[in-house]
Amino acid sequence: MSSRERGAGSGTIEEATDVVARRLGKLEPRVAIVLGSGLGGVADSVQRAVRVPYREIPGFPEPGAPGHKGDLVGGTLEGVPVVVQSGRFHLYEGHAPAVAALPTRMFARLGVRTLIVTNAAGGIRHTFRPPTLMLIADHINLMFRNPLVGPVAEGEERFPDMSDPYDPELRAVARDVARSQRIALEEGVYAALLGPSFETPAEVRMLARLGADAVGMSTVPEVIAGRARGLSCLGFSSITNVAAGLSGSPQQLSHQEVLAAGQQLAGQLERLIRGVLPQL
Ligand code: HPA
Repeated sequence: MSSRERGAGSGTIEEATDVVARRLGKLEPRVAIVLGSGLGGVADSVQRAVRVPYREIPGFPEPGAPGHKGDLVGGTLEGVPVVVQSGRFHLYEGHAPAVAALPTRMFARLGVRTLIVTNAAGGIRHTFRPPTLMLIADHINLMFRNPLVGPVAEGEERFPDMSDPYDPELRAVARDVARSQRIALEEGVYAALLGPSFETPAEVRMLARLGADAVGMSTVPEVIAGRARGLSCLGFSSITNVAAGLSGSPQQLSHQEVLAAGQQLAGQLERLIRGVLPQL
């Protein structure tokens, strides 16, 4: 049975953690950084890097989305022991929510206390001028999937609180870093849809009415699993395009455009993350 069908129960979490812990040796990562589409550069900045290919980690599928790599990278960034997930598992690839959340649960078992998630997203708030960065203040789960469905995993509770999904103190740190580094940083609500088709204009109008400022196809399963394990979460969206139907131009959305705009923001995002890390 493939990991897609199997999901990722407690046994898989333990096995994956054992393999990665062995490979990382003495390194005890405190922070995990999940890199979204076109944002892989941070992984190359890690010092004393140990790369663990996904194919060596039990329960980890090969990543399928273009622009996503397939390595975990342990090491230090700004002197902080980190593990970087370069390539994530999207529900639209057919992965179970528990597979999308497996790396997060493994990070928690490894001793990570803070989860930094990044993604590419379409801009909904009409003042957003992509490419721009958005600090995620909150999310709306419109994937209608949740990685906590099923038996309660060891170390989690049945009904975890989600009133502070993105840690207010960490967000304040991120805003301070952005200000001092003169990086324009918006802040808003991320809506997660299953994908993989981009939204229709009517769906984007609906999302605006629901209170979403940006829309994407990832991140929420990881943050739910992270909160269930007590991780503090910090999230950044690269707003790579205006969401469908809002730009006033007939231009079509493409993944190429998303990757190219993501690459334009990658440097700023890396500076933000590096600025935040020593203050965690
Ligand atoms: N919609 C959904 N996901 C996205 C978008 C979008 O417009 N841009 C980048 N990821």
